[in-house]
Amino acid sequence: MTHRKPVIAGNWKMNTTPSEGRDLALEIAKGVSDFPGVEVIVCPPFTGLANVSRTVESSNVLVGAQNVSAEPSGAFTGEVSTAMLDELVSHVIVGHSERRALFGETDEDVAAKAIAVHSAEMKPIVCVGESLDTRKSGNAVGWVREQLRASLDGYAGWGSLIVAYEPVWAIGTGEAASPQQAQEIIGELRSELVELAGQEAAEQIRILYGGSVNSNNIGPFVDRPDIDGALVGGASLQAAEFVSIVENTARVYGNPA
Ligand code: 13P
Repeated sequence: MTHRKPVIAGNWKMNTTPSEGRDLALEIAKGVSDFPGVEVIVCPPFTGLANVSRTVESSNVLVGAQNVSAEPSGAFTGEVSTAMLDELVSHVIVGHSERRALFGETDEDVAAKAIAVHSAEMKPIVCVGESLDTRKSGNAVGWVREQLRASLDGYAGWGSLIVAYEPVWAIGTGEAASPQQAQEIIGELRSELVELAGQEAAEQIRILYGGSVNSNNIGPFVDRPDIDGALVGGASLQAAEFVSIVENTARVYGNPA
C-alpha cells in the first residue's frame, strides 16, 4: 500500500446555486467526517465558493476552484485572480479538458495558471487526458506524457502538485476507463514526473483518475499502485453517492470508519 494519502475531489462544474452548494457541502462534510484518512476536496463554481468555504470551515473537507486567471489583476473582465481565491480555497483545478476544448486553453496557458496558483500558495490540480481519436491512434501514452510535460513547463512546486488523468472519452459518458488502462497511463505520468521533478518528489505527487467514477467502480481504481484517488464530476453532485466514493476509498486504504 502506498504512503500517499488518497484524494477524492468533486468537480461540480457549472452546477449548483450558492444556496444549493451550501446544502450539498454541508451534507458531504457530515458524511465524510468518519474518513479522515481520505483528503476530500469540493470544487463549486466561483459563485458558490464563499458559502461553501464557510460551511466546511470546521470539517475535514477542503475547497477548490475550477479555474483561475494567470494574470495578477487589472483589466480582464470576467476573470478571477489567485489573490481573490486565496481567501476561499486551498486548491485550484487547472487545464480541465472542458477548459481546453470549449475555451481554448493551451498547454502554455495551463502551465502559467499552475505557476500562478503555486506562487499564491495554493495547490494546482493539473488535468491531462487524451481524446478518443488519440487513443484509437495507439499513441495515448506518448501524447499524454507530452501534454503533462508542456502543462508543467516552468513549474517547480512539486510538493503542492496534484495531477488528474481524465481521458476525454470517459468524461460524462458513463464509460470509465478500465482500472488497467488508467494505471498504465498514470504509471507513465509518474515516470514523466520522475524526469521532471526527480524520483523522491515524483513519488509524493498524488495522481488521480477522472471519468465516470462512481461508488461502484472506485474501488479497483484506488487499488492500483499509482492511482491515488479520483476527480469526480456527475457523481459528486449527490452527497450520498460522493460520500460512498470516499468511504470505499477509505476501505481500500484499510482505514474504514
Ligand atoms: P464525470 O465524473 O461526470 O465523468 O466527470 C469527470 C470530470 O470531468 C471531473 O473533472
